[in-house]
This record gives sequence, structure tokens and C-alpha cells, in this order.
Amino acid sequence: MCGYIFVNGKMAAESRAMVSVKDRGFLYGDGLYETMKSYKGSIFMVDDHVNRLLSSMKVLRYNITFDKEYIKEAIKKTIARNNLNRMDSFVKVIVTRGIHGADLYFKSSYRPSIIVIAGKIKNLDSADYKEGIKIISSSIKRPSMGSPLYSHKLINYFENIYAKDEAHRNGAKEAIFLTRGHLVLEGASSNIFYVRGNTVLTPPLTQNILPGITRKVVIDLCRENGIRVKERKVYYCDFIEADEIFKTSSIAEIVPVSKVDRFEYGKRIPGDITLRIMELYRERAFLYKK
Ligand code: PDD
Repeated sequence: MCGYIFVNGKMAAESRAMVSVKDRGFLYGDGLYETMKSYKGSIFMVDDHVNRLLSSMKVLRYNITFDKEYIKEAIKKTIARNNLNRMDSFVKVIVTRGIHGADLYFKSSYRPSIIVIAGKIKNLDSADYKEGIKIISSSIKRPSMGSPLYSHKLINYFENIYAKDEAHRNGAKEAIFLTRGHLVLEGASSNIFYVRGNTVLTPPLTQNILPGITRKVVIDLCRENGIRVKERKVYYCDFIEADEIFKTSSIAEIVPVSKVDRFEYGKRIPGDITLRIMELYRERAFLYKK
């Protein structure tokens, strides 16, 4: 089936959906994106996703020529045009700074491009949720804090896809970024949590990580349901001693981890607390209507 893509206000058949090669998104990776999950046509946490995008546009000085309602309307139209109202699907909103002028700095006159793509979700392996996935440490080391970049969902994703390829070559499904000082930051396309005793831990947003929407939902669910949760620096040596580990992201939701590098967590997957959080998350996502 040929899909339809929203490009700058118009719905185009996939084969005709285009942006200029002079777009700064193509030339420099100067763009932002959001990936969200639609549960039978209802996008979970849509306001948070759109707010994150608009807030990054503001911080990175994009020329903001559309508002939240425009983006939400574009998402709705794309879902409807692709007949995705009755099934779970992914939605990707991409915003680039627009057509390149001579200057490399952020000129306010650029007109941003906005693209919305939606489609069926593929490749979610049900065994991952029952048996857990293997993750590895990426060879890429990040600074622990202070970068103005990692808190934005940049389309310039090379570091992440390089790490994903490292994972793939090592038979793993995710790679994690560490600092030179052995702090665990996040996955190449996910946030990372671990459980020690009855406490859930995850690195704080003051570090160089993405403020994941799923991460936020998990923290809220823990607080609302009496599960102890702490945002604090995570050292690799503590991480590998964890009782349970899981990763979070909008499409895959909560995925238990069974192995980190050469350390196995095979006792029971998912662990009790991970399983409880997986159930609470599914319940919230299914009940969510927007
Ligand atoms: N990735 N950290 C990074 C580096 C990510 O790329 C992602 C999401 C997350 C989780 O964020 P959220 O919970 O808001 O989805 C954390 C998505 C799945 C993607 O790249 O499509």
C-alpha cells in the first residue's frame, strides 16, 4: 500500500513526498523530530511530544511559523489519510530549519519544513518482552553534562545509529552511552532504568540525556503507585550489580534487559518491579484518549 506523507501543509503520495536538497536538514542534520505511538488512532502523550518539539525549536532558535494545534492537526490528518485510526501505529514529526542560505549560523529568516510520517509498527519482537534483550556499552564516550545538544531530539542521529550498529554487530538490540568516568547515561534510542532492592533508579536530566517522554511516564507511574524511584547518577559498577534493568522509549515502551556486555540477568525476566511497571504503562496507554 502506498502511504501518504504530510509535507509543508500538503498530503503527498509517498513517492512524491519531497523536500529540497538545499534544506538544512539534509545538508547539516539541522532538524528535530518526534516519534510517538498511536494506540488505535489516539497518540499517547501527544501534548508532551509536541511541547518537547516546540520547546527545542525555541531554544535552538528556529523560526516558529506553526503552533501546537497545527502540528496536532497535521498528525490527525496523516493518521486518517493512511487509514491508521483502528490500529496501533507510529507517527514521526520532522521539522528542519528549512532551505539553506549562505550563512551557517541560525538565521531567523529560514522557513522551517514540517513533515509527518505515519505507518504500521514493525519489528516489535514479543520474545524481547518475555526473555529480555542484550545491551552493550558503546565505544562512543559522552561527556556527562553541559552539552547544549543531547536534550534535544536532533535528526542528526549519527552517534546513535553508529552505536546501534555496534549493538547489531555484537548480537545486541541496544547500546548504552557511558562517560569516560563510567557513568551510564542512556541508550542509543532509549532511556535506561535499573532496579536495586525495591528502588528504581535512572540518571537525572542534568546529565547529557534526552528527557524521554516514556521515562517521565514511568517515573510518574512509580510515584503514583508507591514504587520508590530515584533520579541519580548511575555508575556502571552499580548498574551491572542491578537486580533488574529495563529501557524505555515511545514505540517499544518498556523492554526488560537480560544481559549487559558479559553480565547476565537471567534469574527471572521480566523482574517483578519491571513487570509491574510494564503493566501499569500498558494500562495507562490503552486508557489514554486524546
Ligand atoms: N527514540 N534517548 C534517545 C537517544 C532516544 O532516541 C529516545 C527515543 C529516547 C526515549 O524517548 P521517548 O521516551 O520520548 O521516546 C531516549 C525514539 C524511539 C526514536 O528514535 O524513534
